[in-house]
Amino acid sequence: MKIFGNNQPIIKLEDYLASLPRGIISGEDVQLPDHSFREIFEFVNLGENDILYHLGCGNGKGIAIALEEFGVKKAVGIDVDRKKIEEARILLREKNFANSQVLNEDILYSHFNDATVILFWFTDTKIIEMMMEKFEKLENGCKIITIWGPLPGCLPEKVDFPYIINQVPFKPAKDLQEQLLAVFGTKCIDFVNAWEYAERYTKAIGAPDAGNDRFLTIIQSLVIWINAKNLGVACSDEIPPAIKNYMGILRNFFNIEVEHLIK
Ligand SMILES: C[S@@+](CC[C@H](N)C(=O)[O-])C[C@H]1O[C@@H](n2cnc3c(N)ncnc32)[C@H](O)[C@@H]1O
Repeated sequence: MKIFGNNQPIIKLEDYLASLPRGIISGEDVQLPDHSFREIFEFVNLGENDILYHLGCGNGKGIAIALEEFGVKKAVGIDVDRKKIEEARILLREKNFANSQVLNEDILYSHFNDATVILFWFTDTKIIEMMMEKFEKLENGCKIITIWGPLPGCLPEKVDFPYIINQVPFKPAKDLQEQLLAVFGTKCIDFVNAWEYAERYTKAIGAPDAGNDRFLTIIQSLVIWINAKNLGVACSDEIPPAIKNYMGILRNFFNIEVEHLIK
């Protein structure tokens, strides 16, 4: 292990991330802020003819907003966490909605065949792969909103990064490059794109007053640029000066090594 100037060992980015509390990394304990629900529902044009399912609905805030502000026909929240579902039930009972339901179930075994819109923010690849089989069987026209990345192998229908609409029947993407470029809406990724998209993601999932926004944005933008570079869709083969600077800052001030991720 290398020791840098401040006598602290240097750790790789992936080891640093693995050292954070599990709930943060898995997204398990991340509750989307209200403004994100509103942005998502406006983007998908949610309305009175829609039946919304929020998979992994947490405290039920998304269900309440869909019913109260977007007047959906029906809204169903599903979460495997009993405590969160209890919270959601209390919230929805207070509001006295006739057309809402919250279910304490594992989404892998749930039924949502009547959905017209599904909010599905999961990063666990095993869950995503298993859910794909269910999503593919849904009615044509059903929209599945994902956050940050489209469903695997699919070209998104519409993107307002980090929100992505995937629509049944899914359009297959030729390769990862085509998918990446469809998500970012550019021919190639440079530092400015990477920073802009990282910032949008951080704002979408973070609380409006989050104090560590900038740190997260730096890490996210490095990850976006490095992924683009490794997939052959970065705008240059050279590492852009800003990316070099931020890798230097992470290394020198936070003892986090990132450069080894570039293939
Ligand atoms: C934002 S979602 C995403 C969590 C997920 N671990 C991921 O891959 O990012 C978080 C919510 O999903 C719920 N959840 C996680 N796995 C679930 C499952 N298999 N079925 C239903 N809800 C689930 C959690 O209880 C939490 O309220």
